[in-house]
Amino acid sequence: MKLKFLLLVFVAINLNLEYVKCNCIWYGQCGPSQHGVDGRYNCKYTGQPKIQTNETFITIFKDLCPHMYKENEDIRTCCDYEQLITFYDNLSVPRQLLSRCPSCFKNFKAFLCDFTCSPTQNEFMLITKEDEYHPSENVTKIEVVELTYHITNYSVNALYKSCQDVQYAASNQKVMDLLCGTSAESCSPEIFVNYLGHNSQTPFIFNMNITENEYNFNSTLHIKPKNTTMYECSKQVTTENFNASACGCSDCEDSCPVPVPPPIQKPCKIFSLTCGDVFAITLFIVFTTTFLVVIFVFSSTNGKKNLKYQKFDNECDQEESKPFLQDQLDQSQKASKIKMFGVHTDRYIEIFFQKLGFVCASSPIKVILLGLMLCLVCSGGFMYFSVLTDPVELWSPENSDTRINKDYYDSHFRPFYRTTQIIIRPTNQTPWIHEIFDDFGPVEYSSALRLDFLHQVLELQNKISSLEGQLENDQGLKLNKTVKLKDICFAPLKPDNSNCTIQSILNYWQNDPDLLDKIVVDPDFGITNADYITHFETCTKSPTSVNDTLGLSCLGTYGGIVSPFVAMGGYPQYKKAQQYGNASALILTFIINNHKNESENLAAMAWEKSVIEFLKNYTNENMSISFSTERSIQDELDRESKSDISTILISYMAMFLYITLTLGKYKLLKKNTNESNFNWILKMCQQFLVDMKFSLGMVGVVIVMLSVASSIGLFSYFHVKATLIIFEVIPFLVLAVGVDNIFILVQSYQRDIRLDHETLEEQIARIVGKVGPSMLLTSSAESLAFFLGALTPMPAVRIFSLYAGLAVLIDFILQITVFVSFMTLDCKRELSKRFDLIWCLKNTSGLNEETENEADTDGFLFNFFKNKHAPFLMNKCTRPLVIIVFFAIFFTSVSLMAKVETGLDQKLSMPKDSYVLDYFEALEKYLSVGVPVYFVLKNVDDYSS
Ligand SMILES: *[C@@H]1O[C@H](CO)[C@@H](O)[C@H](O)[C@H]1NC(C)=O
Ligand SMILES: *[C@@H]1O[C@H](CO)[C@@H](O)[C@H](O)[C@H]1NC(C)=O
Ligand SMILES: *[C@@H]1O[C@H](CO)[C@@H](O)[C@H](O)[C@H]1NC(C)=O
Ligand SMILES: *[C@@H]1O[C@H](CO)[C@@H](O)[C@H](O)[C@H]1NC(C)=O
Ligand SMILES: *[C@@H]1O[C@H](CO)[C@@H](O)[C@H](O)[C@H]1NC(C)=O
Repeated sequence: MKLKFLLLVFVAINLNLEYVKCNCIWYGQCGPSQHGVDGRYNCKYTGQPKIQTNETFITIFKDLCPHMYKENEDIRTCCDYEQLITFYDNLSVPRQLLSRCPSCFKNFKAFLCDFTCSPTQNEFMLITKEDEYHPSENVTKIEVVELTYHITNYSVNALYKSCQDVQYAASNQKVMDLLCGTSAESCSPEIFVNYLGHNSQTPFIFNMNITENEYNFNSTLHIKPKNTTMYECSKQVTTENFNASACGCSDCEDSCPVPVPPPIQKPCKIFSLTCGDVFAITLFIVFTTTFLVVIFVFSSTNGKKNLKYQKFDNECDQEESKPFLQDQLDQSQKASKIKMFGVHTDRYIEIFFQKLGFVCASSPIKVILLGLMLCLVCSGGFMYFSVLTDPVELWSPENSDTRINKDYYDSHFRPFYRTTQIIIRPTNQTPWIHEIFDDFGPVEYSSALRLDFLHQVLELQNKISSLEGQLENDQGLKLNKTVKLKDICFAPLKPDNSNCTIQSILNYWQNDPDLLDKIVVDPDFGITNADYITHFETCTKSPTSVNDTLGLSCLGTYGGIVSPFVAMGGYPQYKKAQQYGNASALILTFIINNHKNESENLAAMAWEKSVIEFLKNYTNENMSISFSTERSIQDELDRESKSDISTILISYMAMFLYITLTLGKYKLLKKNTNESNFNWILKMCQQFLVDMKFSLGMVGVVIVMLSVASSIGLFSYFHVKATLIIFEVIPFLVLAVGVDNIFILVQSYQRDIRLDHETLEEQIARIVGKVGPSMLLTSSAESLAFFLGALTPMPAVRIFSLYAGLAVLIDFILQITVFVSFMTLDCKRELSKRFDLIWCLKNTSGLNEETENEADTDGFLFNFFKNKHAPFLMNKCTRPLVIIVFFAIFFTSVSLMAKVETGLDQKLSMPKDSYVLDYFEALEKYLSVGVPVYFVLKNVDDYSS
């Protein structure tokens, strides 16, 4: 009995608790709302939630509040049938906006459902204002006018996050632009939910208290913020009563496939040194130690050999005078057959060159004429000469992917437009405050948006659009025809609208100064309600708008939109939103049609030339201007290669002087005691003129030029296009490579003493035989190296290698034949003591043999190498040291090789004083859009899927 009573009490308490916990704040609808439009307030009701049995109710409830619906369980709600229907009706607009993204819409419904129907309403909803309602006489009901909704941070953030990216396709904006009361960029979770409770569509105001803390409002009321479970938009939702796929990438950023970032290769490091360095250092140590060990072992076990080396040190010059090949032949008796073969080939080559030398020396005139004739024939190819200047064709290999893709695009569509772009910054960058009576209030704007500055920019823009260019033909000859922007520009609506596409913010006012000045004045108060800044704000927000408070359209004269991110630059970003009002630069972009066939672009190029000329001479103290046209880069490249011509000439002259002066071997004359100073100087001058080898040096240089010309001519016969680099670099290269041959030939002759019974021709033949093989070896090696360079795919390098290789080869052939003939002629002149250059005059002073022998000295350099350098180098300590230093340098270079940066920065290719450099800098600093990227799908059969 007692137990039963106790149980009863317990149940009663329990029931009571349950009763307190599960209470409504409203049920059913009361009088018309004073707040919104045709809504109704809900009636206050603090009883328990009511069980719903009506079938229609349950069906709708299941759809709207799946998270509260449980199969085979009573449905208790604080909303009646009428409320549920109103709720359903009110959802029609959000349903349209949000149903693209099911989880977002589901979250939105759950949020409002808890609000409307939750059976535990009094836990998180607090009535803050109520009113009396008299549906009929004698009946009084209480209605809820204002309340506070307590909700956790988690729910609000998760709800907002799931919906923030949903797109409203109809106007190409985000739904948050419509649901948040502000623009989507400046919306936040708090702003979003607060707007839901305060907009003109809700029948009553509800305030949001976003908090995590529970608290006791008074002794009976305990507030616990609602923590509605929300679903992420990127995840598929599967619950008992609800199934929805994840939202698409355009509506939910998290759904977008994250491109897998390329694996970051950690630089291989050991103790703060890169592996390459460590590898190089190890190799260096290994090589050096093995080398030193070998040296040490050899020197201690084989003392005799060392002796022999020392002997060699002392007898070096005697060894030289011994016929080298003869010596080798003697030794070769014992040597292997391979070695024998080598020696024999050497011998044959030597004999060949000796014979060749003899022919050239004995009939010089014929050889020279023949050589000249051949060169002329080769150079005849200049008729077919053509130069490659297009940077794309020069620097990208023909079979590179990029080039193939670009060609495909250009030939199937058309090359991307030519753009003439002008970046304008105000010199005075201080911002100003714009103050008119409108929604925006006083706002700071950059000085680029001052009215007078805009007028100046507009004036400049209109001047440029009215420029006329003088048409030129392919050869650069002026034709009697002018080109206007209208003839060449891109006008998408042609022929209905032939205005040119100009991306400029002044196109928001249709490039009309009068429209720029237009304002709207309030008729009652006489204050300005809207001006150009109002229009600017409208247009940057929605460039497609065709009518705003000023009655102006944002569309440009050409009928299309002006994208603010193209027409303005240097604007800051705030919370992903571009602050165009603070843009520090205005950008004018003229878009001109492009053609694959270069000759169709001549008109555009003529107009561009006039723009460059105009802008180079244009000054306005209020603005600084950077500009570039499509032809600018090529123009500047051409200018650069032409400006180098003077440097080329100067350095060529220097080389030429050096060769001619050092080629001669000058004799010093002893001054006789009874001789006057004047006489001595005269004699010296005469001797100098005889010793001089000016004409021979000149011939050497002319031969280099002839070989370059022949090389270019020969390739032109085969229609290999040349580049301008060829003219700049190859003459130097061939001169540098060919000069040593000239020196070797001339100096071997000068050092040589004619044997008895030998004629001059025979002597020269012997010398050519001696030095010919090594000349052949060096020249063929050099030329081979160049020809190997021709294997690279980059056209500029390949062409260069081809031309250089052939030029070196031709140079060698001419040197061994034509130059030898000239040398013979020059030797004959010298022997007959005629002056250089003035062959008809003879040295009359006449040297006697005695002084000649005395004065005959070897040059300084010869003595230095013979007496200082060679003994020092052959020293026992120096030799290993040299090898070790070589190892050190070699391995340092190997490890540094990995650090070489590859790539070609277009800034580097411009001359230092170019206006294009200035443009590149401004481009980097201000422009926010890059070059377009196209994806072309080939072989698509069915475009419907
Ligand atoms: C549900 O209730 C509404 C309104 O009270 C009524 O019109 C409807 O007939 C009811 N439906 C069912 C199946 O009882
Ligand atoms: C309202 O109350 C008054 C007096 O209390 C009564 O006379 C009257 O009939 C009532 N009216 C209605 C509609 O019930
Ligand atoms: C919001 O909730 C906090 C408890 O976290 C409470 O202290 C505060 O008074 C509430 N504010 C309103 C306006 O209800
Ligand atoms: C607590 O506050 C609610 C709402 O304001 C009110 O209805 C109730 O009477 C209060 N209870 C007490 C004990 O003050
Ligand atoms: C609300 O629910 C989420 C998950 O449903 C949970 O992570 C979070 O801790 C909850 N917050 C509170 C205050 O209970």
